[in-house]
Amino acid sequence: MPIDFAITLEPDIRVIDGWTLHEFAEVTSTNSLAAHLPPWSAVRATVQTAGRGRTGRRWVSDESGLWMSAVLPTPGDVARWSLLPLAAGWAALSVIRALGIPGARLRWPNDILVGRQKLAGVLVDRFSADAAVIGIGLNVANRPDLADAALDGETTRLVDLLPETPTFTSLLVRLLAALTQEHHRLEAGDASALCCDLNSAWLHRHVQATLTGGRGAIEGRLEGIDQTGALLLRDAAGEVHVFPAHRVERFREIFPT
Ligand code: BTN
Repeated sequence: MPIDFAITLEPDIRVIDGWTLHEFAEVTSTNSLAAHLPPWSAVRATVQTAGRGRTGRRWVSDESGLWMSAVLPTPGDVARWSLLPLAAGWAALSVIRALGIPGARLRWPNDILVGRQKLAGVLVDRFSADAAVIGIGLNVANRPDLADAALDGETTRLVDLLPETPTFTSLLVRLLAALTQEHHRLEAGDASALCCDLNSAWLHRHVQATLTGGRGAIEGRLEGIDQTGALLLRDAAGEVHVFPAHRVERFREIFPT
């Protein structure tokens, strides 16, 4: 992978709780930077000029949001790590709930919402077989809707939800600790406890999944995920369909009108 030339300043580098943290003023995407770093490295940037979201979308990353990536080792059998993108969402949700936002919830696969508004998103990149880059974008005091009118009413921020907003360092340290914890769980092969946690966090169950390859869409009840991370959807006839994440192109929640 080519070196990312969009770094505008040398990073500050420090070690926190076993993580080597690289902090930049501006990068294209912290995930792209982290691709060049060894496991247990983390990257934070004040601004991302080409922040990436899931399914190829752009991620608005102006100043005052938390944009970070963490490199986790994924040795051995790939199946052991199939839940990692979901585990990363659970890690972020745990931190957000512990801040005192009990209404925070997950939207499959790893969006963090409060009510219907998105507070944080997770993008997992696999640049190599033995490591994964976990990118987390958390709206803190930034205004994504000012950069993209389509986001008007769609997002929320920590400053709107808490009387006092924690510092970026405090948020980062908590997120890295939660990622470490979830990594230990997967490393120990403890998928069932993680599945139980995740299946308690999908609070809205009436959903529609659009399948890849023009295979149509299925509306129904979200039954949760299985131990491989596949989505379980019960259709109107009561049949449960099992969809691995790569077969779902779009997932949306359906609310009564
Ligand atoms: C999504 O919800 O679509 C995922 C958004 C992930 C955004 C974060 S911000 C830090 C990291 N760097 C990126 O370019 N993307 C992730």
